[in-house]
Amino acid sequence: MSKLVVEGGNRLEGSIRIPGAKNTVLPILAATIISGKESVIEDCPEIKDVELTVEILKNLGCKIKREGRTLTVDSSDISDYTIKEELMDKMRSSIILTGAILARMKKAKTTYPGGCELGLRPIDLHIKAFKELNISVVEEGGYIMFDGENAHSGDIHLAFPSVGATENIMLVATTIKGTTKIINAAKEPEISDLADFLNKMGCRVLGAGTSVITIEGADSFSNVNHTLIPDRIVAATVMAAAAVTGSTVEINNVNTEHIGAVISAFREMGVLVFKTMDNSVVVSAAGRIKPLNLLRTSPYPGFPTDAQSIITSVLSVADGTSIVIENIFEQRFKHTEELIKMGADVTVDGRCAVIKGVDRLKGAKVSARDLRSGAALVVAGLCADGFTEIDNLYHIDRGYENTLLDLREIGAKITKV
Ligand code: EPZ
Repeated sequence: MSKLVVEGGNRLEGSIRIPGAKNTVLPILAATIISGKESVIEDCPEIKDVELTVEILKNLGCKIKREGRTLTVDSSDISDYTIKEELMDKMRSSIILTGAILARMKKAKTTYPGGCELGLRPIDLHIKAFKELNISVVEEGGYIMFDGENAHSGDIHLAFPSVGATENIMLVATTIKGTTKIINAAKEPEISDLADFLNKMGCRVLGAGTSVITIEGADSFSNVNHTLIPDRIVAATVMAAAAVTGSTVEINNVNTEHIGAVISAFREMGVLVFKTMDNSVVVSAAGRIKPLNLLRTSPYPGFPTDAQSIITSVLSVADGTSIVIENIFEQRFKHTEELIKMGADVTVDGRCAVIKGVDRLKGAKVSARDLRSGAALVVAGLCADGFTEIDNLYHIDRGYENTLLDLREIGAKITKV
């Protein structure tokens, strides 16, 4: 079982480029199922979750070619509507494939989604929305059978602006006659990127990025060529690495609008962040990190839950006490148990973590508990005394290219053994 060894105490320098976003390529790969045409996706990250989704698309009958960061999907011969159980179990977000498969095949068959350990990750909002569109949902023998033969358009009021549920409704509504409206839709940049892709494909999706999205059903589609938006959470991860090592680093291929809340948090921590060119920032951290009196995660454009564990690592060496409230997932503080092994002083009570900054962390043997906590441990290792060994790397590989070894381009001492 391989692990990462991170040597702490080194300054970083230079520049690094951010790849396309994991959380936009997954729904867009699902969307390629709908057109029956060829879709070219540029700047596609080389990560496990993409490989898994490509596997599922191939099982359905898609022909897929990968050349570096360019992925070409030809969905003209879709022959199946079942997502294999072993693939569904590995990645919770595969649930958004059901909307796309239904749009194309009018039927879908899946199991309950597996994936990250972020507490209970229900799909009730997805199921409720499908039923409101007159899609039948029947559980039988551990499988869920969806039948959309008689689906009709409608207005869906989401109880929570769920990213996945918003995407699933957008996808399934692309071939339902009439106008489907999503009220209280998620506003994340990945939703807007999916809408851009669908509109290039011949759909009419309006309002993405606001809390009301409308989708006109269509019945003919065209080839698409689309470049993914940059991964805002990978950008936040690199900013955190620069912050904890007191470094100055240039980050290219960043949409600063997408990480506004993250940038203001770093500035509050005393880290300089300034735009250099259209899509580049320079992050410069001198001196001790300042604590954050209160950081709350919330749906976009609030502070992203996916950057919470990464920021908690930075705050563990701040000059004072910070409070972090995790409002999106009920179990997203598992990484703090690992940070405590490194000498951090963190108390967690439900959705609240109190982080008393310590002068130095110390290297230790730790385990990645989910995708972003693995990245948070790499960030902590960069500022700890000595060596930190991180196992369960498959979590990190799901969302970070090359197991975050690319940080070596800016001087991080990380090896995979
Ligand atoms: C997406 O997950 C992202 N994943 C997550 O990123 C991200 O943390 C999350 O959105 C929030 O921004 C992908 O895009 C592949 P949600 P998703 O539906 O769609 C509850 C990462 O690290 N909920 O917005 O699953 C749910 O339990 C991953 O890249 C219901 O109750 O998130 C959670 O508490 C982790 N019922 C909250 O809503 C439902 O039917 C947010 O979930 C659906 C969700």
